[in-house]
Amino acid sequence: MIDSAFFPVMPNHSGKKNAKIKNTKVISIKKIPNIIAIFITGLRYTVSKPWTSLRNIDRTQSVSYNPKDHFFKKAKAEDYLARSIYKLQEIDEKSKLIKKGHTVLDLGASPGSWSQYALKKVGHQGRVIGIDLTDVVVKAPNYTFFHDDINNLDWDHELARLKIEKFDGVISDMAPKTTGIKNTDQMRSLTLCELALDLAVKYLKPKGYFVCKLFHSDGFKDFNVKVKLHFDKVDAIKPDSTRKISKEIFIVGLGFKP
Ligand SMILES: C[S@@+](CC[C@H](N)C(=O)[O-])C[C@H]1O[C@@H](n2cnc3c(N)ncnc32)[C@H](O)[C@@H]1O
Repeated sequence: MIDSAFFPVMPNHSGKKNAKIKNTKVISIKKIPNIIAIFITGLRYTVSKPWTSLRNIDRTQSVSYNPKDHFFKKAKAEDYLARSIYKLQEIDEKSKLIKKGHTVLDLGASPGSWSQYALKKVGHQGRVIGIDLTDVVVKAPNYTFFHDDINNLDWDHELARLKIEKFDGVISDMAPKTTGIKNTDQMRSLTLCELALDLAVKYLKPKGYFVCKLFHSDGFKDFNVKVKLHFDKVDAIKPDSTRKISKEIFIVGLGFKP
């Protein structure tokens, strides 16, 4: 299905410059390369996502996106598994969250940079539990990883098996597989945040902390209000390492009130 916007013109057979043939505009020869470029871009979207109308696509996602930016290179040089580490680091430094000896639950842990950072911060006395649909390569004696969907895990059973009653912190960098359709992606992100909040409410110690990534949308305000019901203080942080084009924001809840 190709969007009609990509076929706006008909060739000018009259020879007259800028003449109008019925409702059809005539184009200058200089514009042809631009039109071919637009057409190829449209075709690329259509081939990769044939089920979606081109008008619904969030084109900001492909604008000035540099996958190997400064933070990507920094993460590589510092042996972190993803550039996302710097988002958590910034949030942690601002809000003073993760301390030595803490037990932290990392939701959406793969490839593993948040778990790596949390493990460094909690030290040998602390513990980190990660979960993701995708496996991680992080290995440490005080690290447990569940290769699973957060909806499928029998949390009570698994935490009892690990002799964990409550967490000091629940951090979630979960993100849905994006479709490119803005509303759908935002709704799915919000659903993941609601699930993360449910787990936090169930398993946080009093005064515990909660971090959750959200694709900014109309649902942001309501979610913020919900988090406020359970925490003394709630902040919304957009870390410097978040890509400029990204619409993600992090909700940080401090001082859990059971
Ligand atoms: C941006 S990545 C996380 C990056 C990670 N924080 C790091 O620093 O390496 C988002 C992750 O959320 C995971 N995810 C999405 N939905 C999930 C679900 N229902 N259960 C578990 N993980 C989920 C995805 O598989 C993906 O790996």
